[in-house]
Amino acid sequence: MAAVLDAVRALFAQNTFTITEETPADVVAREALLDRAMGADRRKKSSEKIRRGRVPAEGLALVARDSHGHVIGTVRLWNVEAGVSASGCPVDALLLGPLAVDSAHEGKGIGGALMRAAIAEAQARGHGAILLVGDAPYYERFGFFADKTQHLMMPGPFARDRFLALELVPGWLSGAAGMLVASGRKLSRPVLRRAA
Ligand SMILES: CC(C)(COP(=O)(O)OP(=O)(O)OC[C@H]1O[C@@H](n2cnc3c(N)ncnc32)[C@H](O)[C@@H]1OP(=O)(O)O)[C@@H](O)C(=O)NCCC(=O)NCCS
Repeated sequence: MAAVLDAVRALFAQNTFTITEETPADVVAREALLDRAMGADRRKKSSEKIRRGRVPAEGLALVARDSHGHVIGTVRLWNVEAGVSASGCPVDALLLGPLAVDSAHEGKGIGGALMRAAIAEAQARGHGAILLVGDAPYYERFGFFADKTQHLMMPGPFARDRFLALELVPGWLSGAAGMLVASGRKLSRPVLRRAA
């Protein structure tokens, strides 16, 4: 009986994960996970132009951890201006990505849980809309569609049918047109001191 219980516990532990805010100690594991999941070309994407040199939106860098605390999933969201409104004002929004789950843990609902946690946190923080470039068949289940981005552009090559958005506030992107530009806080560079 004890052996059966141990086997059940081991199985349960394998499928247990938690979602928390990313910490500086997670960065190396997150980058290694992204390299494995997306390959070296991930840094050439148009979305990367918006992320480079910026920090993610406040409270919106999330990781999934296994029962040992190891990083097995990641998602981050970034402050952007999604073009301008009909009255010419910049439209504040978030750009989501990259989302990735360790291949050993795919299909357990971790990607979905990261997406739902990110959307809920963005909504709780008062954001109006989230945009992303990704596979519509995956992201449509979370409410992301291409119709909201018709008049918007990424700063580089992108496939229009993969450029998707979810409005957290109905009508937030109505009339939004133009180029997405980064508006998040810049990464601070370490100050190099000359040797005495
Ligand atoms: C896409 C990804 C994040 C999904 O993570 P996950 O934890 O396996 O996702 P979930 O368990 O929540 O959902 C699995 C479901 O999504 C589906 N799915 C996964 N990737 C998909 C895709 N690109 N297009 C359509 N459906 C997809 C699976 O078939 C599965 O469907 P089912 O529930 O009907 O069986 C993960 O596969 C991954 O990291 N892929 C490599 C990186 C990547 O491509 N990221 C961006 C996605 S555009």
